[in-house]
Amino acid sequence: MKTALITIGSTREYIDPVRYISNESSGRQGVALIRSLLKHKFKVICLYGYVSAKLVKSSNVQYIFTPNAKTMLQEAKKFKNVDLAIFNAAVNDYKVKNFSNKKIKTKNGLTIKLINNPDVLKTISSSKVKPKITVGFAYETNDVFPNAQKKLKMKKCDYIVLNFPTAKNIIFNNLKNNGALLSKSGTQYNLGHVTKTVFANKIISTIIRLENAT
Ligand code: CTP
Repeated sequence: MKTALITIGSTREYIDPVRYISNESSGRQGVALIRSLLKHKFKVICLYGYVSAKLVKSSNVQYIFTPNAKTMLQEAKKFKNVDLAIFNAAVNDYKVKNFSNKKIKTKNGLTIKLINNPDVLKTISSSKVKPKITVGFAYETNDVFPNAQKKLKMKKCDYIVLNFPTAKNIIFNNLKNNGALLSKSGTQYNLGHVTKTVFANKIISTIIRLENAT
């Protein structure tokens, strides 16, 4: 049985005990990917942040809660030798420099200094021991194909799933997704504007087909 690692949902970076910065992500695409991986007989390790979608219950899925970028990376490092790793989580690019243990009292304006978080995907796909196949996601609103190609190279992954909004639809918190799968060899596979279930199945079956052909 092959093993897949997947990151899903959004992470949070706390400013004080009750306030945080985060990203938009329902986790629905991630859950659809897990279902597809199970259909293809993968054992799944899921590093999840905050999700509103219902998680799939299965003895073949191991769930690990990773609320922020640091813990997500720490856990991902433990599973670097998997067959396939999919980085679907909306990870915060920044965290607050000085977390306040006490709730910050309301005053006239507030400046918060943010510092960079580690990039989970880039760190794992650049490491010596790494998953056989790494897949990243790119949400782009302009110059979508060139930007996704750049991200694929910069993050050193084998495939990148490009998401971009259709003229009428925003992607986040939507039942459908729109995009393409790009491989590091430069080939593009249209995934269409389809439900997240169909989108997930197309991603997984295309990758399996391409990898089996090589
Ligand atoms: N990602 C990650 N760790 C981070 C930031 C992003 O693992 N700290 C992963 C995401 O899971 C996704 C990919 O990197 O697979 C691209 O994320 P995206 O937010 O589109 O890219 P950014 O690096 O944030 O670039 P930008 O916001 O400039 O488009």
